[in-house]
Amino acid sequence: MAEPLGKEKRSHYCGDVRSEHIGEKVVIMGWVQSRRDHGGLIFIDLRDREGIVQISFNPDVNATAHSKAHHLRNEYVIAVRGAVSARPEGTVNPNLKTGEIEVLAEELTILNESKTPPFEVSSRHGISEDLKLKHRYLDLRRPALQENLILRHRIVHTTRNYFCEKGFIEVETPFLTKSTPEGARDYLVPSRVNPGRFYALPQSPQLFKQLLMVSGYDRYYQVVKCFRDEDLRADRQPEFTQIDLELSFIHEDEIYEIIEGLLVTIFQEIKGVSLPRPFPRMPYQEALARYGLDKPDTRFGMELKELTAHVGACSFKVFSQAAAAGGVILGLNATGCSEYSRKELDDLTSLANVYGAKGLAWIKVVSDGIQSPIAKFFTEEEVRNLTTLLDAKPGDLLLMVADAKPKVAYTALGQLRLHLGGKLELIDRTRWCPLWVTEFPLLEYNEEEKRYQALHHPFTSPAEEDLLFLKDDPSRVKARAYDLVLNGNEIGGGSIRIHRQEIQQAMFKALNIGEEEAISKFGFLLDALEFGAPPHGGIALGLDRLVMLICGIESIRDAIAFPKTQKATCLMSDAPSQVSEKQLKELYLRTVVPKASPTIKKSRDRSQNSDTTEKPE
Ligand code: AMO
Ligand code: AMP
Repeated sequence: MAEPLGKEKRSHYCGDVRSEHIGEKVVIMGWVQSRRDHGGLIFIDLRDREGIVQISFNPDVNATAHSKAHHLRNEYVIAVRGAVSARPEGTVNPNLKTGEIEVLAEELTILNESKTPPFEVSSRHGISEDLKLKHRYLDLRRPALQENLILRHRIVHTTRNYFCEKGFIEVETPFLTKSTPEGARDYLVPSRVNPGRFYALPQSPQLFKQLLMVSGYDRYYQVVKCFRDEDLRADRQPEFTQIDLELSFIHEDEIYEIIEGLLVTIFQEIKGVSLPRPFPRMPYQEALARYGLDKPDTRFGMELKELTAHVGACSFKVFSQAAAAGGVILGLNATGCSEYSRKELDDLTSLANVYGAKGLAWIKVVSDGIQSPIAKFFTEEEVRNLTTLLDAKPGDLLLMVADAKPKVAYTALGQLRLHLGGKLELIDRTRWCPLWVTEFPLLEYNEEEKRYQALHHPFTSPAEEDLLFLKDDPSRVKARAYDLVLNGNEIGGGSIRIHRQEIQQAMFKALNIGEEEAISKFGFLLDALEFGAPPHGGIALGLDRLVMLICGIESIRDAIAFPKTQKATCLMSDAPSQVSEKQLKELYLRTVVPKASPTIKKSRDRSQNSDTTEKPE
């Protein structure tokens, strides 16, 4: 007699049974996706990681199995032995990989029952995101999510093979470490055995990978978790994964070549797409001027134009004052949009406001001239200049933002461009447009803190020819830094590093980091630079973002098995949570939480805690 089915070995994944198996006996196991009773016959769709197969229970084939099948409910886990058979004519399902066959059940074992799930695993719409995150293990049964995670696995596998072939060594770096500045807050971990002291979880392995270069490892890479306590957005998570690398005796061009090779291989192997090489490069200033953002989506045009020199002296105060204050007036041509309603224009204005613009000026170009609330402020020549510069024709809508702070005007109009690109369907979704953004400024001035800060991080090398200005004119110093942008998303960033101690110290000085602070924070790096540090540089790619783009999904959460909400919580495990007095005592900690603190409210009220809607950047 056969073993009870539960102990028997599975012969095939559900999704792998095909017409070539017709006539064979198979043993399959999986989750019940649905049960349909048709007169005497019962049909089950059985699901596993590889797909779905139809099983039919016929009392004439096996009465016991058929009668047991009456008890099956969604998400029960079962094992079935049966014969693979061609589906009767007219019942073939071309949407299923297994659609040509069915399994005629001869034996059924219920391996485990399931409560009625809080949502139907197979349905995608109309279920609250919070409910799905709370039962993530159920949502992860959904084929679309499984595909994302399998694809992620394949990307990592390809990446590891690629770096191994290129002579890279994977080295793990510590998680319990000191702060590594990458522009976010640190997650801190208290030390029990060192009262009052804290580790910081790494925002990136930056310092350690540089030290590995000092130690002569020459080519390092790591697929590594990074932790950043920052405001979350659709493309950010508090813990995320980098494909991180560092190389010695290297120049920017070689790094571009290696990363282009990696992406070309990934796209070829995973998507069958050939990315054209070399990837285009664009200086930061040009990216701002043409697209308003340092991560331009180059899949469509509608470029920004600077109008300051041409209308800066007009009688519209908003424009002339911005120009006089050293700001800019920028415009773009929303081609063919002259029919936009008041409401549509108000919506565009509100969007510009979200990104800091104080308003949005518009001009409709019509057959006999222009229509605009601000038309009266322009001379004929100014109108001519505007329309020529923006290549305007009747039917077009010209949008303009003026601001004393150029960055505000660039960002607002750059974001409007992206919005209109989507709304007007100008973006060719089949295109892949990678782009290197280069020649970043080394430092930017932080108005609030009244000091310079590193645009990339403080270990980035200044351009050789600008070294002289580091002391007296830091804002003109360019960095040897580069970002990799794909279809308007920043998927990587890196730089050639400072490898000489005196330059690193000059950099700290420019950042207003005193000698004592530098030693206490990065003393070990400064020391190492004095013991024969080779010239070196590297880059890190955001794996989750790459997966997100390759899968064509909107939210980074769908690229991660167990993601956090926008408030950095896990609705499934309820982390972060309060800990016992005993634990706090052991760590020499006491919490001081103001009564009205959102943190307290959070842990008491999960629904308050679970805001999963994303704010725009
Ligand atoms: P950077 O800070 O630019 O550089 O990070 C590299 C890439 O990591 C991804 N990334 C994120 N992905 C998801 N969630 C986040 N919160 C998040 N933050 C960053 C982005 C980004 O381009 N040590 C340097 C690299 C180097 O200089 O070699 C670094 O971390 O895709
Ligand atoms: P106001 O004079 O404030 O009523 O503005 C007249 C028009 O100019 C309105 O359409 C505003 O949206 C627009 N506007 C106001 N501020 C700006 C600005 N900084 N840049 C562009 N347009 C603006």
